[in-house]
Amino acid sequence: MIIGIVGSGAMGAGIAQVAAEAGHQVVVFDKSPEMLDKAEKQMAKVLERLVAKGTRSAEAANALLTRIRFTPVFEDLRDAAWVIEAVVENLSVKKELFAALENLLPPDAILASNTSSLSVTAIAASCKQASRVLGIHFFNPAPLMQLVEVIPALQTDPALVEVVKQEMVAWGKVPVVAQDTPGFIVNRVARPFYGEAIRIFEEGLADMATIDWAMKEIGGFRMGPFELMDYIGHDVNYAVTASVFEAFFFDPRYRPSFAQKRLVDAGFLGRKAGRGFYDYHPDAVRPEPVKDPELGKAIAWRVICMLINEAADALYLRIASRDDLDLAMTRGVNYPKGLLAWADESGIQHCVNTLDRLHGEYLEDRYRCSPLLRKMGRTGKRFYQRD
Ligand SMILES: NC(=O)c1ccc[n+]([C@@H]2O[C@H](COP(=O)([O-])OP(=O)(O)OC[C@H]3O[C@@H](n4cnc5c(N)ncnc54)[C@H](O)[C@@H]3O)[C@@H](O)[C@H]2O)c1
Repeated sequence: MIIGIVGSGAMGAGIAQVAAEAGHQVVVFDKSPEMLDKAEKQMAKVLERLVAKGTRSAEAANALLTRIRFTPVFEDLRDAAWVIEAVVENLSVKKELFAALENLLPPDAILASNTSSLSVTAIAASCKQASRVLGIHFFNPAPLMQLVEVIPALQTDPALVEVVKQEMVAWGKVPVVAQDTPGFIVNRVARPFYGEAIRIFEEGLADMATIDWAMKEIGGFRMGPFELMDYIGHDVNYAVTASVFEAFFFDPRYRPSFAQKRLVDAGFLGRKAGRGFYDYHPDAVRPEPVKDPELGKAIAWRVICMLINEAADALYLRIASRDDLDLAMTRGVNYPKGLLAWADESGIQHCVNTLDRLHGEYLEDRYRCSPLLRKMGRTGKRFYQRD
């Protein structure tokens, strides 16, 4: 199959590598010859490193590179059976591109967008034959991250979902299906990991080192929320939060924080800037956590409860299936457990009680318990029935 990729930035180049590894011929188009050149050199370097590490033979690496063609000529995409778009996150740019792709490509070609935050339905609306448009959301870096969210638009032919899922499995990926709603699965369900941690910090209930310690040592997460936000970059992480908040018609559950907004204002964008929540300069002293087990448990449980509530609500609103919700969080962001399995293990009524206590204390809508969780708590049901 010929796979066309539009955009040779971080995502486009990564997806091109994945498709070529799966044995396809890949044509990467970018309007910027400099970005194409950079992507081509970067890919050669990555493969050189894999050969040096012994994870690829030199022949396999060479063969892979010969399967990828980088081009500044749009018409070179014309024979592609699939095109995956990974250009700038801007709706009008993507719509214009999809309309042009539809005119260029064969009528049975599949047109996919790698958008993280835009409506796939709105992108598909730019095409006359919108039934062949859908979202295929890879995670960064695409060659390493297993999860792929497959997002049918309102107009998508339902049969296409299975075709794309099967192809993603053939590419070595773990596909999950998400409804076309803001943040799809991962970028929606993960919001409280950042938001609630910042809220605890803003209230002065604990400092960031203590919250990070609690989430790692007690929660079992690989990174604490403040470390992770610094690693992702506050420009990126804040923009995702802000766009999810706006896209949910300003639901207070997703409200961004001033603490993070100020970091962005100051240019303290995280590790890459030498400063974020933490200071990364060589002589900086890393703050020590207060390793109080009771405090740690309270912090971790509060954040986990908010995450469970978000996952339960996504299930309640049929954003994704139970299994896909749990798979998305364990494979997409390496959570130690699926959140719905975690709810069963901790006791659903215990989650409900915690959320109700927070709601009672703050009288804020962000702590509203999902109707599904409340009903399950009341009736003693579990997400996964015991064998
Ligand atoms: N970076 C991430 O972590 C990440 C993760 C998942 C999804 N995404 C999504 O993937 C897409 C690309 O993100 P990225 O980080 O690779 O961006 P990027 O800025 O690294 O690359 C975008 C590329 O698109 C090219 N481009 C822009 N407009 C174009 C057009 N009209 N025609 C052809 N080429 C065009 C640019 O020259 C650039 O090379 C976005 O929709 C983003 O939301 C990003």
